[in-house]
Amino acid sequence: MLNLFKKRKHKKELSNLNLNPEYLPAHIAIIMDGNGRWAARRALPRTAGHAAGAETFRRVATYCKDIGIQYLTVYAFSTENWKRSADEISTIMELLEKYLYESIEKMERDRVKMKFLGDTSVLSPKLQALIAETEEISKKFDGVQVNICLNYGSRNEILRAAEKYAQERVSVLRCADADSYPLKEENFSKYLYTADIPDPDLIIRPSGEMRLSNFLLWQSAYSEFYFTETLWPDFNEKELDRAIAVYQSRDRRYGGA
Ligand code: IPE
Ligand code: IPE
Ligand code: MG
Repeated sequence: MLNLFKKRKHKKELSNLNLNPEYLPAHIAIIMDGNGRWAARRALPRTAGHAAGAETFRRVATYCKDIGIQYLTVYAFSTENWKRSADEISTIMELLEKYLYESIEKMERDRVKMKFLGDTSVLSPKLQALIAETEEISKKFDGVQVNICLNYGSRNEILRAAEKYAQERVSVLRCADADSYPLKEENFSKYLYTADIPDPDLIIRPSGEMRLSNFLLWQSAYSEFYFTETLWPDFNEKELDRAIAVYQSRDRRYGGA
């Protein structure tokens, strides 16, 4: 009942922007940037910006689920973000813990699958335990999926994949001939953190920066990009609709004529 109501409500919003509900991006990826500047403009500490950004993530994730986006991938912490102060890093990690605690409680109800992309082995034991629990519960679900990139860097992801592929190839070569195991794009993709996740259709970066900052370098080969000056804590449902509208106006040719 509730779902039906939500769907109808959204159709109305979709029509405001003339969005086509049949051509929604299946996978949206977001670089959640601008928390620090949002806080600075309010003379608040950067950590306050991260708290506000976490709220935006909750809202946007719920909205994506309600309108039927199948995969949402968010960049929460990069392999380069360790350069920040210990205080800022611990606040970000605490916010993540809080989010995971809350998510675990409502996962059975929401049935949203969660996955973590990146090297989580260096995170605190508490955070690692929460991640393991969330992924374990997720095994029961097969619908909407939220991927959180945590200690994620795409160059590191590609190196790791190449290493794994090489190891597997060596062991396969011991019992089979090289031609039975050629290096193909599809094969290689299986070794990335995003194995089994389709490439993102739309990548959104708020805060006015126009770069990927080591995010989904392999996977974004044919993604559409949407940049906005809005800082992540100010991003909302309407902004997402706008990004989808722009996406729907693009002609995806994949190198064809
Ligand atoms: C994004 O916001 C959050 C993380 C990188 C963890 P920033 O903290 O980078 O915010 P700005 O770019 O300094 O405004
Ligand atoms: C990218 O933002 C990483 C995340 C949003 C998690 P950064 O703020 O770290 O990127 P740069 O330093 O502006 O490129
Ligand atoms: Mg930033």
